[in-house]
Amino acid sequence: MILEARAVSKRFGGVSALDRVSLGVREGEVLGIMGPNGSGKTTLFNVLTGLLRPSAGEVLIDGRSARGQPPHRIARMGIARTFQNLRLFPGMTTTENVLCGAHGREDVSVLGNLLPRPGRAASAAAERRRAEDLLREVGLGDRIDVYASALSYGQTKRLELARALNMQPRVLLLDEPTAGMNDAQAAVLLGLVRRLQRARGLTLVVIEHNVPALIWLADRIAVLDSGEVLVDTTPDAAASDPRVIEAYLGRDAVPA
Ligand SMILES: Nc1ncnc2c1ncn2[C@@H]1O[C@H](COP(=O)(O)OP(=O)(O)OP(=O)(O)O)[C@@H](O)[C@H]1O
Ligand SMILES: [Mg+2]
Repeated sequence: MILEARAVSKRFGGVSALDRVSLGVREGEVLGIMGPNGSGKTTLFNVLTGLLRPSAGEVLIDGRSARGQPPHRIARMGIARTFQNLRLFPGMTTTENVLCGAHGREDVSVLGNLLPRPGRAASAAAERRRAEDLLREVGLGDRIDVYASALSYGQTKRLELARALNMQPRVLLLDEPTAGMNDAQAAVLLGLVRRLQRARGLTLVVIEHNVPALIWLADRIAVLDSGEVLVDTTPDAAASDPRVIEAYLGRDAVPA
């Protein structure tokens, strides 16, 4: 397993957000995660990326414990993510936002990333070209050097993707990349995600409420419910599992 949660529990006061979750992803695999609101999906990402310490259990990267590793160290081990709520810098251009992904996110000051460093003048230009290439790759070729605040919602999701990719991750975790999009927009974005994944041999973990889309995208699907892994199986088996249907009963996201 390239990234694994082993018997991870996370409590917030009296709330058990994760309850002995064991879940791993193999190199090159696309793992889809679904589950009702509040079932612990984002908390799992927060634990996997070191933003939260598990109350019990541990995270392993390449089979080695990541216990006590801060988020920037985990990022440097090749684990990148996007956030459910956008975390872009609206007052910076698209290119500058992507450049912020180059050296991890939590520890390095934004200014530090943008200022030239000794001996790095030449590579700064190369980094900028690489950022622009990434913007083109995610379909923002006509938005290079535009302020992030001027982007449409769908474009900001693409920008987040480009920024995460600029970390050159081995594992990319996407928290609801299509939230707030209509079905057509979501299909286009997930098509892009899949092309990027294939082209780079990325390992992908995707939280997504759109069940048909996730079944299309994922090699394997895990369903969280009340902080527990309810199901960990193939997309087809997940789609027809009565426990999955029950966990989703009453949700708008349930396909007809
Ligand atoms: N920082 C926190 N402090 C206290 N409780 C939290 C915190 N983060 C999450 N929780 C609680 O943990 C549970 C799981 O939340 P989480 O955000 O992981 O769910 P989710 O599956 O991502 O939901 P959604 O589909 O709405 O994004 C919820 O009961 C939530 O209120
Ligand atoms: Mg969430």
